[in-house]
Amino acid sequence: MGKKTCFIFLCLLCLALFSTVNGLKGQRFDAKLFVFGDSYVDTGNSPRSIAKAWKPPYGITYPGKPSGRFSDGRVLTDYIASFLRIRSPMPYVLNNFNPTFIRYGINFAHGGTGVFPTLDASNQPNMTTQIDFFQQLISKNVYIKENLRSSVALVSLAGNDYATYLAKNGTIESHNELLLENLLSLNKESSAPVFIYLDLYKAFSSALKLQQFPSGNQLLKPCCTGVDGEDCGFVDKNGIRKYVLCRNLRQSFFWDLLHPTNEGWRAVYFALRPSLKNLL
Ligand SMILES: *[C@@H]1O[C@H](CO)[C@@H](O)[C@H](O)[C@H]1NC(C)=O
Ligand SMILES: *[C@@H]1O[C@H](CO)[C@@H](O)[C@H](O)[C@H]1NC(C)=O
Repeated sequence: MGKKTCFIFLCLLCLALFSTVNGLKGQRFDAKLFVFGDSYVDTGNSPRSIAKAWKPPYGITYPGKPSGRFSDGRVLTDYIASFLRIRSPMPYVLNNFNPTFIRYGINFAHGGTGVFPTLDASNQPNMTTQIDFFQQLISKNVYIKENLRSSVALVSLAGNDYATYLAKNGTIESHNELLLENLLSLNKESSAPVFIYLDLYKAFSSALKLQQFPSGNQLLKPCCTGVDGEDCGFVDKNGIRKYVLCRNLRQSFFWDLLHPTNEGWRAVYFALRPSLKNLL
């Protein structure tokens, strides 16, 4: 994907939706975080066999090795969990529903997915399927109503639907509406959820203006850059790395062509924090 496409992508992406099930003020310590969506929030669900997020140099900043996060370090989920003063919720694919293991919630997000079938995601669970996974757990009483009282759902639909639309030149339905419909059925059992949209686009824009990051055309340049037309993380059959890393990772907003660095996400999180504080 070229720089121009990347920029178009940046302009289109970024819808995050937040829902509190009950007033969370003052009880953040018990909070659970349920996460749905794509690579902006995936913390390890994408299969090792297909996701570059499982290859070095992904994860070099945190946790120090590839962890399935599409970044050198933390992604949005990790920062939102820290806001809630809880640990980042376990990836669903670990398939361990022991109460201790899932006390901070579960992350259902899979990189490359959207509401509709996308180019990247092949057979990865789309939004509906991710929500189905959650509903199955509720119907099996893995979580009971009481558990869900102070839970938050974080949804990221950053741009895979749009990218697929652009690539296919097709028509796209109003995926926000479908998403909302899906989510409304999500916590039917508990009291009426409140839906809040966080404007990730705005948060990106203000984060990108920080002095920490370079200005001009260096700004969108990723730290991990593929060479010879390859992608960040690619190693050829002779073991030669087909990517280079920037010198100042901490001053890079983008890690690869589409995903922010640990510092990039930190900056986005700081931009979102005032609205989070107002809402939760
Ligand atoms: C999501 O995936 C499921 C299972 O593959 C499929 O049945 C459903 O049609 C998909 N949803 C959309 C909106 O494409
Ligand atoms: C893409 O859309 C344009 C404008 O609607 C149309 O002229 C063109 O034929 C479309 N291309 C394909 C491959 O569908």
